[in-house]
Amino acid sequence: MKLFLDTANLKDIDEALKGGFIRGVTTNPSLLAKEPKGNYIEHMKKIVALCKKYGKDISLSVEVFSNDPKEMVKQAKEFVKALRYKHLAVKIPIGYKNENYLSVVKELSDAGIVVNCTACHSPMQLMMAAASGAKYVSLFYNRLRDGAKEEAYAAERDRMFNEKVVEQNDYDPNHVLRETRELLKEYPETEIIAGSIRTVLDVKEAGLNGAHIVTVSLKALKAALAHFKTDHAVDQFLKDFSAWLK
Ligand code: E4P
Repeated sequence: MKLFLDTANLKDIDEALKGGFIRGVTTNPSLLAKEPKGNYIEHMKKIVALCKKYGKDISLSVEVFSNDPKEMVKQAKEFVKALRYKHLAVKIPIGYKNENYLSVVKELSDAGIVVNCTACHSPMQLMMAAASGAKYVSLFYNRLRDGAKEEAYAAERDRMFNEKVVEQNDYDPNHVLRETRELLKEYPETEIIAGSIRTVLDVKEAGLNGAHIVTVSLKALKAALAHFKTDHAVDQFLKDFSAWLK
């Protein structure tokens, strides 16, 4: 399992990449909106510079900020041209509300652009994104889990259940990951990213259930590194050693 960092914050990216265990960075327009106002591409250029500073092959996902397919393709091409980064993946959200965005995934993939198909919430979405050529398919792990109980979506939930689009288990992100791994056997090049991760246990569970990559905040990564028994052992070693020196 690989760890990616889910942020657009330059300080966090710098700190996490310095740690050496991060293989990629994922961003989205909401994450960027948490940063000081500025130019989207210029901010991404700073992230590219950090990726280059710390590794040879750090993946970077940058998301389009439009829901018009033509504009998505245009933005994706602009990102590629402006960022000139070999390990760039353009994030294209899945969906079939007004448009079929998988046509965008196909067009970009056919043009040799690496795509991270994002905002997926079911095994079928993940599988169809892979079939359209996405190198990465992103499952929104906790948003999916929330979808099982959010009052605002009760009617949609019932509709999808009654129309046999999803079953009850399809709101369990670990079950979704396991099923998706099976469905992706035809697409061995595609990697599943588990995003929308909130806790250290989510990271572990997602990895154990089949996510190739888990993308997570620096806060969760720091929590994963610390352990009270580690602190105790290391303090004891130092204490014993200094007593021996006296
Ligand atoms: C993944 O690529 C997304 O950036 C992210 O994990 C979205 O999840 P959240 O907004 O629920 O944290």
